[in-house]
Amino acid sequence: MNWRKVRIFLITVFCLCLIPLTRFNQIDEPLIRFFRGSHQVDPLTLHLAGEFVENNLGTDWNADGSVTVRMIAQQYLFIPHCILVPTGVPVHLRITSADAVHSFAIDGTNYAVKTLPGTVSEAQLQFPNPGEYKTACREFCGAGHYAMRSEVKVVPREQFPALQAGERGSCAAQ
Ligand code: CUA
Repeated sequence: MNWRKVRIFLITVFCLCLIPLTRFNQIDEPLIRFFRGSHQVDPLTLHLAGEFVENNLGTDWNADGSVTVRMIAQQYLFIPHCILVPTGVPVHLRITSADAVHSFAIDGTNYAVKTLPGTVSEAQLQFPNPGEYKTACREFCGAGHYAMRSEVKVVPREQFPALQAGERGSCAAQ
């Protein structure tokens, strides 16, 4: 047995295996869909139907006093650009991507949520104190990656607007 040849062969196989990791949209994502059988959301029709239509994005009160925040990450912005949440209540984040892999990371916290097209990523957040947090995409997603920024505004619970049915909390409404 020629160990040198075996080693070269193994390294070559290893390098070939790495290629799919750099081609998420073209290779990984279709593969994931294929193995999952069906995908949870269609990244191409997010704005047309379902949970992530525009007027459903933002912050919504739940019956138990927690809130749900729905967002979309896309090259190169987060929608909504600024989200408004109350202090001291559980914040259920639901975020998906319209295109590439992004990561929604909140500066000054340990929160970072990877977003994938076709999949809803979930995270549980909570903010004890009011404040403004800068957020940034932490997954290289293309030419505009470094400009992919947004904001989380945390206001005292009693200052958070009471929402009408169908209305979503946003920084603009505050
Ligand atoms: Cu989105 Cu980097």
